[in-house]
Amino acid sequence: MTRIGFAYNQKPELSAGGRTGTAAIDHRPDEEPPSTADVYAEWDSAETIDAVASALSAFGDVIRIEANESLPERLRAERPDIVFNIAEGLHGTNREAHVPAICEFFAIPYSGSDPFTLSLCLDKARTKDFLRAHGVPNARFAVIEDEASLTRLLAAEMGSDSIFSKFPLFVKPIHEGSSKGITERNFVRDRDELEAQARFLLTTYDQPVITEEFLTGAEFTCGVLGNGASAQVLPLVGMNFESLPEGALPIYGYEAKWVWDTPDEPLDIFECPARVSPALQRSIEDVVLRAYRILGCRDWSRIDVRLDANGTPNIVEVNPLPGILPNPEDNSCLPKAARAAGLGYDELIQSALRHAAERTGVQLRTKRRAAARRPSPVALPV
Ligand SMILES: Nc1ncnc2c1ncn2[C@@H]1O[C@H](COP(=O)(O)OP(=O)(O)OP(=O)(O)O)[C@@H](O)[C@H]1O
Ligand SMILES: [Mg+2]
Repeated sequence: MTRIGFAYNQKPELSAGGRTGTAAIDHRPDEEPPSTADVYAEWDSAETIDAVASALSAFGDVIRIEANESLPERLRAERPDIVFNIAEGLHGTNREAHVPAICEFFAIPYSGSDPFTLSLCLDKARTKDFLRAHGVPNARFAVIEDEASLTRLLAAEMGSDSIFSKFPLFVKPIHEGSSKGITERNFVRDRDELEAQARFLLTTYDQPVITEEFLTGAEFTCGVLGNGASAQVLPLVGMNFESLPEGALPIYGYEAKWVWDTPDEPLDIFECPARVSPALQRSIEDVVLRAYRILGCRDWSRIDVRLDANGTPNIVEVNPLPGILPNPEDNSCLPKAARAAGLGYDELIQSALRHAAERTGVQLRTKRRAAARRPSPVALPV
């Protein structure tokens, strides 16, 4: 029987009244998210962890290994045949790379991208540098490293070629995900708004701020499964910004993910498969697969794309550790895209595991006959 180590970070229960699978954030929508409220937004709920463990159990004995300080010892003692990794990590700008790096150190095969890709994609600016070097379209940007560089920037004359002469702009913490630190206030219309929000982000998130040209077109998020030439894009998820409250900006940020989307009044934010022309579909898939390969993504990922004013698909960011909420009622893009391709939740997880096992030469021995069916990539529509 294959021994599957399962590495994860479980979200603590923060407060009553939070949704299953979300950060249990407890504040008014008109408030700035308190810096502590979204601290665990990337970590997984007990519900998600149980669902993944259950899916993996079709292929062997699942050894749960919480990705805390005891993980290295546990891995050394257990020596699983393969690790299925969804751990977002504890600290630092390389936090997502820690578990894969420790697996590498012990020569234990693991699922998903390697430490280099995970660290790269957790740095939005370096990711964009990489993409730009390979001619993959993404919004022009500049990095505000710290307070001093913000002050210098505000004092400087802006030439017409500077992005700071091209408002509106969009500012984001450089090393976050799950819309931590991304609210409507990040859409800045002038230098005063830029100064206020950049300063807020620098102070609250204690990391550089990336400032980007605002992409005005439609937005999509795209699941990818597989490796090499056989990697495939799942049906596109389109963002239906019409579903946001009246007057809301067309942004899939903190408010849309964690405040306006409630179990009682779910936002009808996703259209999957997105209704796009075959030509646009092809050009989105093309840019997504190029980004996936250039950045070295493996097994699975979720990639955000937005059209610019010319209708060209631009990469917004790449998530090699995609969110995977199991409950279809929760708005979770990758499981949703998988369902549209005919893959249930278990099959999505098993598919990622199978890709990792194939890639690393690990034999998976199935426990249940049903699980022996090959879920992916052959199950995907062409
Ligand atoms: N340059 C941009 N132009 C227009 N909209 C943008 C831009 N950058 C980000 N956005 C909006 O903000 C949202 C969140 O940004 P981004 O995807 O970079 O953050 P994230 O926190 O890493 O997201 P995720 O929850 O997918 O991990 C995007 O989905 C998009 O709606
Ligand atoms: Mg995103």
